[in-house]
Amino acid sequence: MSDRTLFIIKPDAVSRGLVGRIIYRFESKGFTIIRLRMLQFNREQAERFYNVHKDKPFFEELVSFITSGPAVAAIIEGDHAVSATRLMIGSTRSHEAQPGSIRGDFGLDVAMNIIHASDSAESFKYESGVVFS
Ligand code: RTP
Ligand code: MG
Repeated sequence: MSDRTLFIIKPDAVSRGLVGRIIYRFESKGFTIIRLRMLQFNREQAERFYNVHKDKPFFEELVSFITSGPAVAAIIEGDHAVSATRLMIGSTRSHEAQPGSIRGDFGLDVAMNIIHASDSAESFKYESGVVFS
């Protein structure tokens, strides 16, 4: 089933020069890039984007990290986009992420974990509204 998802290359990965290598993986996998933009999250936008985590102990850290520098957001389209992309990014805790996944290959951290991807069709709709409106 062809569907769409959103990913965000987080500020740690942008500052480390990983944007091209990450986008390359999604193109190689067969996804089509529908939208692509670099953006600087402001605080209000970051709080809206991460609203689902507002009661978590790491919320403040999350908002300050995602606003710390430019990020790159993309909407991609292809079969099973949401689930395939979640597999490609790997486990949240980068040090536990499978080698071969993006987090598994490019990082070790939990908070600064390279990339975000929508975890459902509903999240995709909500998050792309925050980032691309
Ligand atoms: P994402 O939303 O970024 O795709 O990541 P995820 O689904 O794998 O992880 P989620 O549970 O949704 O957490 C969102 C982001 O919060 C940061 N985090 N920090 N310090 C901590 O214990 C902690 N736990 C999560 C990570 O940046 C994670 O991606
Ligand atoms: Mg998540």
